[in-house]
Amino acid sequence: MGSLTESCAFVIFGASGDLAKRKIYPTLWLLCRDNSIPKDTVFFGYARSDLTKDQVRERCSPFMKVSSEDQDSYEDFWRRNLYLRGSYDKRSDFETLNELINKTVGPGANRLFYLAVLPTVFESVTSNLKGCCMAGEEEGAWTRIVIEKPFGKDSESSDKLSRHVASLFPEEELFRIDHYLGKEMVQNLMLVR
Ligand SMILES: NC(=O)c1ccc[n+]([C@@H]2O[C@H](COP(=O)([O-])OP(=O)(O)OC[C@H]3O[C@@H](n4cnc5c(N)ncnc54)[C@H](OP(=O)(O)O)[C@@H]3O)[C@@H](O)[C@H]2O)c1
Repeated sequence: MGSLTESCAFVIFGASGDLAKRKIYPTLWLLCRDNSIPKDTVFFGYARSDLTKDQVRERCSPFMKVSSEDQDSYEDFWRRNLYLRGSYDKRSDFETLNELINKTVGPGANRLFYLAVLPTVFESVTSNLKGCCMAGEEEGAWTRIVIEKPFGKDSESSDKLSRHVASLFPEEELFRIDHYLGKEMVQNLMLVR
């Protein structure tokens, strides 16, 4: 990706939510366990709820697959996690997030922002990210924005969202995720087999 650094801030917006506890944290843990994420990555959970990191950990616990020999590695995973309470629409909260990232992984670290939030806040979160939280390009670091489906509720709202994010980020910085895309087709393939 053209980056000079391996350090990365991985920020999960909506860290208090269902998707985060069922899918995102468990997947990040497995990737860390398998050394598929650079060791210098720090995970920042972000949401409006007044939580601690330990409370986030507790919520995720039923969905984490941890064998007895993985215990040390699991503790290490949570040591690399932080939680920050903040709104999705106040610039000052994103400035605080930026300061925390700078303090923790440095301004030259790569940054990945995962929006596990409701589509109603996509626009304010992406605008504030652009305004306050981008990686320092002069240091060769990259920024990536990951948006969960649904990308709007009809073609009009989808176009509006697309125009909004396109006005902020080049396409190569944007990733759209649909966990269920092709799910039925894959299930049918299993049946055919
Ligand atoms: N759950 C899944 O398996 C799944 C699968 C595919 C796609 N998705 C998509 O992923 C996104 C998140 O899903 P989710 O199931 O995690 O949703 P969720 O649990 O209902 O909400 C995620 C977080 O959003 C915040 N929130 C709740 N109501 C809000 C409001 N009115 N305004 C602003 N923030 C609000 C809450 O955090 P705070 O109040 O703490 O900020 C909540 O923890 C959604 O767009 C959903 O469609 C979910």
